Amino acid sequence: MNNEIEKVKKILVDFKQEHLLQFIDELSLANRKKLVNQISSINFTLVNELFRNSTVSITSKPFVERNITPINCDIIEEFSESKLMEYRKKGINAICEGRIASVTMAGGQGTRLGYNGPKGTFQIGPPIKKTLFQLQVEKLKNIHQECGKWVPWYIMTSNENHNDTIKYFSDNKYFGYSEKDILFFMQGMLPMVDFNGKVLLKEKDEIYFGPDGNGGIFLSLKKYGLLQDMNLRGVEWVFINGIDNALVKVADPVFIGYTTMLGKSSASKSVAKKSPDEAVGVFCLENGKPSIIEYTEIPETLTKEVNDDGQLLFGDANIIAHLFRLDDIVNIAEMGLPYHSAIKKASYIDKNGKKIVSQEPNAYKFESFIFDAFKYLNNMGILRVQREREFAPIKNSIGKDSPEAALEQLMLYPL
Ligand code: UTP
Repeated sequence: MNNEIEKVKKILVDFKQEHLLQFIDELSLANRKKLVNQISSINFTLVNELFRNSTVSITSKPFVERNITPINCDIIEEFSESKLMEYRKKGINAICEGRIASVTMAGGQGTRLGYNGPKGTFQIGPPIKKTLFQLQVEKLKNIHQECGKWVPWYIMTSNENHNDTIKYFSDNKYFGYSEKDILFFMQGMLPMVDFNGKVLLKEKDEIYFGPDGNGGIFLSLKKYGLLQDMNLRGVEWVFINGIDNALVKVADPVFIGYTTMLGKSSASKSVAKKSPDEAVGVFCLENGKPSIIEYTEIPETLTKEVNDDGQLLFGDANIIAHLFRLDDIVNIAEMGLPYHSAIKKASYIDKNGKKIVSQEPNAYKFESFIFDAFKYLNNMGILRVQREREFAPIKNSIGKDSPEAALEQLMLYPL
């Protein structure tokens, strides 16, 4: 053990992070091992670089330099019934032929909801009484019933909720889904650093790690060999969604048919913004490439701009429902995504060994976002769907985007 400690000490000195071993002498052998393993897993070159960049992050780049223009979208209500049926048939065929996989991102921390446990295990109240995972599995089971195919379902967790998520599925006998077609994988973690670039200790024997954002999906799928797994299964297209939309149409055949029949290289669903000031990211073109601009970044004047028909120019909100080609995902995983930094509150162990519960934001968290991958894609389709039927996000414990609001929508538009 001493040798290993000496080895990491050298690395820490090089990167000016030697405080991480400050309490090593107070730890049991097992806890020393745990801390040394965690330190060894960190890419300090990357962490130091991310800290240096955090003051000039992509999101803080002046808006005028970003060349943001509106993007076109297709509106689902403008397609005829027969067209939609045609798309649906095409989508179902692709599923039956095993060309579709589904990935659910369930690695978030759900801080705003304040629920203690994996967000997917959050239960929507009576009379629905179903968890977010259950709502999604039921949709996949319906597809199985229709075409006899178990869509391979990959669930992204984080190291904080991985074991609990697997246990939940196993305790519930996978809700009757085919066990071998549900695969769990963990997203990556990055250490959080204070405003001086020092990696934080969560406990004396534990580094303060945070999930590396939903853009971590590409690298993690690759790391766990799941891109290869998809390839072996004959998958060509991958539907990706978040866990927290209670109305998400998982592996939606209409969306698959729309994308493939119109010859799109990829597609995302959107919903019309409720009002110019709604706090949502919107689709746009950045330097001519599809992207999303966060509500925190877009100037107020632009949020209100309309076209000749009175429609908002930047009026398509992201609902985290994407369809990518598997070969594009393989490329994106190879090329990597940029990291954004966010300032968060983090309780940590200070140099006197005291736990500091910070009331103010005091640390940088580094994350990559799935939409940064759009710039690698050409000819991306944006399909604007009906908000009341397809978007009921559960973000907050009360009020807007709360379980209560989602329940109301689910009662109107059940599975
Ligand atoms: P959010 O951005 O809403 O984050 O995630 P969150 O962690 O769930 O909630 P807050 O911000 O802490 O309150 C959008 C989707 O992306 C997934 C989430 O699980 C959700 O489905 N996600 C987010 C990840 O899988 N990993 C992440 O690191 C972040």
